[in-house]
Amino acid sequence: MDLQGKVALVTGGARRLGRAVALKLAEAGANIALHYYTSECEAVATAEEIRRRGVEVVLIQGNLANVAEAERVVAETASAWGRLDVLINNASVFFETPFGTVTEEQWNLLFDTNLKGPFFCAQRAAPEMRKSGGGAIVNFADTGIYIHWRGYLPYLMTKAAIAEMTYGLAKELAPEIRVNAVAPGPVLLPDGHTPEERERFARDTLLQRIGGENAIVDAVLYLVQADFVTGVILPVDGGQRWKRGG
Ligand SMILES: NC(=O)c1ccc[n+]([C@@H]2O[C@H](COP(=O)([O-])OP(=O)(O)OC[C@H]3O[C@@H](n4cnc5c(N)ncnc54)[C@H](OP(=O)(O)O)[C@@H]3O)[C@@H](O)[C@H]2O)c1
Repeated sequence: MDLQGKVALVTGGARRLGRAVALKLAEAGANIALHYYTSECEAVATAEEIRRRGVEVVLIQGNLANVAEAERVVAETASAWGRLDVLINNASVFFETPFGTVTEEQWNLLFDTNLKGPFFCAQRAAPEMRKSGGGAIVNFADTGIYIHWRGYLPYLMTKAAIAEMTYGLAKELAPEIRVNAVAPGPVLLPDGHTPEERERFARDTLLQRIGGENAIVDAVLYLVQADFVTGVILPVDGGQRWKRGG
């Protein structure tokens, strides 16, 4: 897919990996619907950086854990330019939930944000993409689904379901819409890690380093543009799944 003049919705695009992906798609010529939830200041700053790349941007706030809001975010994107070509289902929450302590509130937050949101964004986006002649969806899984970390079972269940959703949607939406996913490993660590912890994460990969946001950006751009690729989960984890999981 040539991204010049196309429209891409990036969920959770204000900061971190979503921001990096939005900037890359903008560099490739796509107009960007930059979704954010709570990070309004960061979203405004990212939108300014996107405009400097010579494309248009609209900011759309919404809680994607709520189906009506997820559908509105997609609808506002489509009505902004009259088309929708790319959906990046990046927004997510991540926290530890040791088995035996998991609450219904934690469960609902994880499943509503990480699974229900991407599903309903995709369902609302598909007819818009078909009207535009086709499109590409990139979901965000996690290499932890191959490793099965202890202490994160509900989170990993949401990401395993994202993998299943990717395979299933690739079938449901072919041939007009391609659906793929990245499965990041230690790419951009949560804020507050010590140098020793960073070193431990790096040693946990075959490549002995943290990936950095460009690793994900390159993989997402590939999946958006690769016209003969659908139904693929692409691990971007420095080989961590082999080091840990085997
Ligand atoms: N970072 C890594 O190394 C790594 C590793 C494995 C997998 N991943 C996956 O890669 C993706 C991006 O990772 P990240 O670390 O950049 O993500 P992140 O910082 O944890 O979260 C991304 C964004 O999700 C948005 N979000 C949270 N709850 C939301 C809700 N209810 N409605 C709408 N948006 C909501 C937040 O937007 P606001 O800030 O606007 O509230 C947040 O900025 C995620 O899917 C993550 O699971 C990342």
